[in-house]
Amino acid sequence: MNPHLQSQKTRALCRLAPVIPVIVIKNADRAAGLAQALVSGGLPVLEITLRSDAALDAIRAMSAVSGGHVGAGTVLTPDDAKRAKDAGATFAVSPGLTDRLVAACEELELPLLPGAATASEVMRASDAGYDMLKFFPAEAVGGVPALKSLAGPLPRITFCPTGGISPSNAADYLALPNVICVGGSWIATDADVNAENWGAIQERAHAAAGLNRR
Ligand code: 3PG
Repeated sequence: MNPHLQSQKTRALCRLAPVIPVIVIKNADRAAGLAQALVSGGLPVLEITLRSDAALDAIRAMSAVSGGHVGAGTVLTPDDAKRAKDAGATFAVSPGLTDRLVAACEELELPLLPGAATASEVMRASDAGYDMLKFFPAEAVGGVPALKSLAGPLPRITFCPTGGISPSNAADYLALPNVICVGGSWIATDADVNAENWGAIQERAHAAAGLNRR
């Protein structure tokens, strides 16, 4: 699957809801309950970061939850991409982009949402064929004004800003013409996941799902 087609798929996923919850899960036994809370709250697209030992088992468990679209985050290497795909991830998110990752995702037929933070990184990703990108780390590299500035010279590129997004700034990002959705970890906090506080998570998901997009 070439990068252009991969971006078509990731853009379609990003259109499904205004927010993609970014999840760091420590215990895969909680994965199904968490996915159910998020999906029933109105957020069907989930990014499980490969930053914990439980991540791959969590992807496996969440993939069985009906109505969900489960992807792997923090995909840094071809091996990460392969392990994610084998666990059932239907897309991959990376903080950046490398030639090896491009080649691996093409071969694995795994749609990749690659990260970019500067005009040169956006241009390199676009050169490779990607026009749906993660803007990362969004707040740290200039946030809303930076994305507005990129829209002028690079109008065809659309973004999912991630990194420092919260209920207080999500709407500002979603009002931008080059933003399709945002990603963030505020929906499923460690404390609520550990306490299996699915009601609170579902409520936060519901509020996020109701955010307006341009
Ligand atoms: C990440 O990969 O950790 C995401 O960018 C989430 O960032 P956040 O915790 O600031 O939402």
